Amino acid sequence: MAPRIASISIAPLSFPPTPQLALPSPEDTEAQHQHQQQQQQQHQHQVNIEAKQKQRGKMSQQSAPYDMQIKLLMIGDSGVGKTCLLLRYANDSFSPTFITTIGIDFKIKNVDIDGKRIKLQIWDTAGQERFRTITTSYFRGAQGILLVYDVTDRRSFESIRNWVSQIQQHADVHVNKILVGNKCDMLDEKVVSTEEGQKLAKEFGIEFWECSAKNDINVEQAFIGIARDVKDRLVADGGGGPAASKGLSLNKAGQGPTRNKGCC
Ligand code: GTP
Repeated sequence: MAPRIASISIAPLSFPPTPQLALPSPEDTEAQHQHQQQQQQQHQHQVNIEAKQKQRGKMSQQSAPYDMQIKLLMIGDSGVGKTCLLLRYANDSFSPTFITTIGIDFKIKNVDIDGKRIKLQIWDTAGQERFRTITTSYFRGAQGILLVYDVTDRRSFESIRNWVSQIQQHADVHVNKILVGNKCDMLDEKVVSTEEGQKLAKEFGIEFWECSAKNDINVEQAFIGIARDVKDRLVADGGGGPAASKGLSLNKAGQGPTRNKGCC
């Protein structure tokens, strides 16, 4: 090895070195050969990795457990029953205890709508004003929004207009919406009539349901209704596959005429 160190130290300061000035020794040839072999092996290794990755990509597409993912958001004043509606729909449970939502929460529900396997990601927001900055930051990614009021609380009904203007400010312009009047089991305390709910929904050109999380009235219909509207819009936009399910870019106005559905 010492002679080679010496030859480097006396080499002319030209770059790149001219090959004829440095004839390769048998050791150099052997080293070059090994180096070439290593490079070939590395190249083959890289090709194998890429082939495996492609294969994995294909397999994960084939075995995706759903065809489409849809993000829904629930908004409305505190206490109207958003969490209870979600718990009824996702877990088929109900609790009379009021535990206000802190910030935001979500649940996943897999459904089949018109032959499409849909993964619903449903975000439940806090109705309290103090969480407004957090909750409105989630509007942008929503593809469908459930506007919820309490049929026994007129103020919550009147707030719906404010919530709609929040949507206009923070959500995607083409987001689908649905109006939900909850607690329709409380007939004696009902202060917002079914007709008023229908009229407001008609004004906004959206679907309307009166529901009861407590007695499981129209809960599934409301969630499936909004999910179907979103699905139809995404399919019409050509974005119906799992890859389009990130749901952050929506391209087409999709609200159909008002369809007033079930009432208590
Ligand atoms: P925030 O998290 O503060 O925004 O409230 P929320 O809209 O999520 O309300 P929540 O679901 O926590 O319900 C508030 C109260 O209303 C609880 O005491 C529930 O038991 C009650 N409640 C919810 N839905 C119904 C319903 O359909 N019928 C009746 N009778 N009570 C309900």
